[in-house]
Amino acid sequence: MRINDNFEKLPESYLFSTVARKLREYKEKNPDVEVIRMDIGDVTLPLPAACVAAMHRAVDDMGAGSTFHGYGPEQGYAFLREAIAANDYEGLPVGADEIFVSDGAKSDLGNLGDIYSRDSIVAVTDPGYPVYVDSNVIDGRGGELVDGKWSRFVYLDCTPANGFKPTPPVAHADVIFLCSPANPTGAAFTRGELKAWVDYARDNKALIVFDSAYCAYVTDKDTARSIYEIEGAREVAIEVRSFSKTAGFTGLRCGYTVVPDTLVGYDAEQREVPLRKLWLRRQTTKFNGASYVIQRGAEATYSPEGKEQVKENVGYYLNNAAIIRDTLRKAGFEVYGGVDSPYVWVKYPGAADSWELFDMLLEKAHISCTPGVGFGSLGQGYIRFTGFNTLEKTREAMRRLEDVISK
Ligand code: MLT
Repeated sequence: MRINDNFEKLPESYLFSTVARKLREYKEKNPDVEVIRMDIGDVTLPLPAACVAAMHRAVDDMGAGSTFHGYGPEQGYAFLREAIAANDYEGLPVGADEIFVSDGAKSDLGNLGDIYSRDSIVAVTDPGYPVYVDSNVIDGRGGELVDGKWSRFVYLDCTPANGFKPTPPVAHADVIFLCSPANPTGAAFTRGELKAWVDYARDNKALIVFDSAYCAYVTDKDTARSIYEIEGAREVAIEVRSFSKTAGFTGLRCGYTVVPDTLVGYDAEQREVPLRKLWLRRQTTKFNGASYVIQRGAEATYSPEGKEQVKENVGYYLNNAAIIRDTLRKAGFEVYGGVDSPYVWVKYPGAADSWELFDMLLEKAHISCTPGVGFGSLGQGYIRFTGFNTLEKTREAMRRLEDVISK
């Protein structure tokens, strides 16, 4: 059996696996040190009570013959898809039939590569969520890695000069990955900025994969939460969302992807092919749905209590992000994000290498961050802090950081 050679081109492990391994090794050598995790965007608050109660009821359903559920509907239960359409897309042109419930945004973002051609030119932000790059490299769309850049990708540079919000490139791309509010920089597109991307996609017959996993963190009124707020987006965009960062489902797994009926790709003869049909075919072949119990839990996020509890959790994490941002700003760092986003993107004064910064903070402050270069070569010299730890640990981490800086 010949392996998929593309795996050999990738860095040895996924960014967050490398961080986790380094932390394990450090803990083995320093068992008495309490490291505060400010790296991966994993939530710390328990599930909203409304979700817990709904899942208890769902487990009881599964335990009685009259309410037991086997395989669920392939796209997800109608009760959840209808709740998503009515709440997340209230006033927007998205129907329940266009929503595909899954086991999370990460899986969908990686799996979408099954429906576009191996030859597609993929545009990715630098820095950006590593799944966009790694999954397309695995599928054979990366080419070769030269000086930290894949030769077949179109890179959308995100720098302080453009507020970490790239404008459409001159070059042609077939598939464009955009994340807003962005992981890792926290930058969020206004409607006007997003309109330029929709226009570009229409002109280039391209597909936008819009990752709005963090849309619940948007507070600014000009910032788009959904790409479908932009006219014409239904013809060019897929949107991917998650219950992880809103209702704390990182350990439960549930997300969804919107593939509008009006969205098409093109076959070799340039005939239009509805992408919804392809995604349905892909999902029904390779995926058997998120569990009934979890989908009932996700549905409960749209109940009146559920909405309040999710809002509280999001506010809690935003407050943590504000504490991080303010502490670092006062200390004289260049700080971005943390306003409409749980992530704070930091340029560490005088330091060039993100992994050295990671090691230094671990050694000296016993806090872990995510090295910016793990999100792309333009992340070199940056680090990312997450607002997803508890308030107490966030405060303690900032206190330790201030200590290190003052020495
Ligand atoms: C992150 O820290 O960037 C996220 O937690 C990654 C993810 O959601 O998979």
